[in-house]
Amino acid sequence: MSSVVRVELGERAYDVRVGAGALSSLASHLAQVLGSAPQRALLVIDEGIPAPAVERVVLHLEGAGITLTQARVNPTERVKSLETYERLLASAAEARLERNDPVIALGGGIVGDLAGFVAATYRRGVPVIQCPSTLLSMVDASVGGKTGVNLSASLGGRQRLLKNFVGAFHQPRLVVADTDMLASLEPRVFRAGLGECVKHAMIAGSEDLLAWTESSADAILAHDPDALAQLVGKSVTLKARVVAGDERETAADGGRALLNLGHTFAHAIETLGGVRKRGSDDPGLQHGEAVSIGLVAALAAGEKLAMVDGSLTRRVVALLDRLGLPTGAQGLPPAAELMGAMIDDKKTVGGRLRLIVPTGVGQARVVQDPEPGAVRAGLAAIGAP
Ligand code: GLY
Repeated sequence: MSSVVRVELGERAYDVRVGAGALSSLASHLAQVLGSAPQRALLVIDEGIPAPAVERVVLHLEGAGITLTQARVNPTERVKSLETYERLLASAAEARLERNDPVIALGGGIVGDLAGFVAATYRRGVPVIQCPSTLLSMVDASVGGKTGVNLSASLGGRQRLLKNFVGAFHQPRLVVADTDMLASLEPRVFRAGLGECVKHAMIAGSEDLLAWTESSADAILAHDPDALAQLVGKSVTLKARVVAGDERETAADGGRALLNLGHTFAHAIETLGGVRKRGSDDPGLQHGEAVSIGLVAALAAGEKLAMVDGSLTRRVVALLDRLGLPTGAQGLPPAAELMGAMIDDKKTVGGRLRLIVPTGVGQARVVQDPEPGAVRAGLAAIGAP
């Protein structure tokens, strides 16, 4: 099964092409969206992708007459830095990229955000084509035009990695989500992407996506090709609708900010070292795992605020468990420290906390300056002392 989802953004509208083998027609779609086949391109490659899959894309693009310059990126939050950004800008210059020559991101969210930021700023902007290779980047990061890098800064006497603090909105001209790429992901990385899918189901506006995810969980975990293509297609459809309604996250009624459900908690725990999944020896946390934990915290905060019924918490926790995602953490610092990290997150407004709180199945809303007791309840639910 393959599908094309249109992100309706007027003159910046673009297609997300989803399905098994979608990358095999990348070159012809490139020529279509750019008006003609580009002469040159900078291909930013995620080092996590197996060599044969990279080779296939390189041969395909070179076979179409495109002179490629390749740049490799080790996808870690530390590498998502101004230093790497500068290195990639230099690669674009050395490749002699001109205004209609694209930067092509082949990789997960870190590579997509870096490549997108390079494309947004190199010679005041060149096209970016997103070819996501992880589930997380297919359903979330590659669609919507958020690009950027992390910034390391000392806040309150402590060195912090401020996630996505430097960046730009730069919509891709095309997104190609080839679900065949998911086969080579480590199981833990694949499952982490499901955290964002559950998040989408929690803000989808109806019961449908949550119910579909529950009934398809086994097929998804078994990598059934049709279930994967549907999962990505459904999630991208939701994301495209939200982005089209509020491209720059300025809507008063929530809009794109709802996509940050679970993320204020998630970013706070990600910025602190030494945190692991509850009951696990696996080191560190994947972003999607932190989001999964953040969803549980947001539900608990919502219950404390009497905005959501405990039955939704139980339903979501059961689904996350079934998908092999964490619902709590160990090694968390005291709640007061975590609350400080939450206020430093870029999703705060005027130094005040802004939380996305679930209000029912498929529903959530923004709560400005939530009472501290609700935030503490969220943190306690995920294991903060
Ligand atoms: N990942 C949140 C957004 O794209 O707005």
